[in-house]
Amino acid sequence: MRTLGFIGGTGPEGKGLAARFARAGLEVVIGSRSAERGEAAAQEVAGLAGGNVRGAANADAVRAADVVIVTVPYAGLRDTLQALEPETAGKVVVSAVVPLQFSKARIAALPVAEGSAAEEAQALLPRARVVGAFQNLSASHLMDLDHVVEGDVVVCADDADALREALDLCALIPDVRGVKGGPLANSRYVEDLTALLLNINRIYKAETHLRIVGLP
Ligand SMILES: NC(=O)c1ccc[n+]([C@@H]2O[C@H](COP(=O)([O-])OP(=O)(O)OC[C@H]3O[C@@H](n4cnc5c(N)ncnc54)[C@H](OP(=O)(O)O)[C@@H]3O)[C@@H](O)[C@H]2O)c1
Repeated sequence: MRTLGFIGGTGPEGKGLAARFARAGLEVVIGSRSAERGEAAAQEVAGLAGGNVRGAANADAVRAADVVIVTVPYAGLRDTLQALEPETAGKVVVSAVVPLQFSKARIAALPVAEGSAAEEAQALLPRARVVGAFQNLSASHLMDLDHVVEGDVVVCADDADALREALDLCALIPDVRGVKGGPLANSRYVEDLTALLLNINRIYKAETHLRIVGLP
């Protein structure tokens, strides 16, 4: 059994993904800046999804994990990953982080010097193999285990094994399809699409996902 560790897994996106992967049979460790908050989130997720879920401090969640998923807000990304660099060496680290700026008029993608949050994560974690994935999946749909999440997850990676790991994770969520999106540098387009989807959600009072048509 593979162990998934979340960095900042106590928010809606971390808990939603954790619930889906716990339901699929993976061992899940929900990391937090506070081990107690991680444990409380783990109990909530286990209550929803069953399975093997526990909470821990972020560093312990990373140490326990075969694959790490980062679900902190963009504002906390740099400090969080800098502190966890030693623990992530050699690991696959999946970034679901989207740099966004919310205002009444619109939701905008924040510019990132490295090109995307995923590339910034790779720059901060040079010994890890970073993948961009899950940036377009809505947390509320993930948390509602009766809801079929019909959506594509575009996976961007420079490392072939890391790409495969992330695609395998996608395949564990029913009706979600992993789509190869090319190198990690293409994560910027995926992250920007989240801003577009959120604006569409506001206009239609809906929760939209991405579906790519025309694939073989
Ligand atoms: N929500 C969605 O529908 C959705 C969809 C796709 C992608 N995303 C992306 O996924 C990430 C998580 O989204 P979310 O809505 O779950 O976020 P969130 O609730 O705002 O934050 C997630 C967790 O990160 C930790 N955190 C908060 N501020 C931090 C900081 N400054 N430094 C370190 N850790 C901090 C907190 O955990 P502790 O206090 O327990 O440490 C918090 O519970 C974001 O980057 C978002 O763009 C979200």
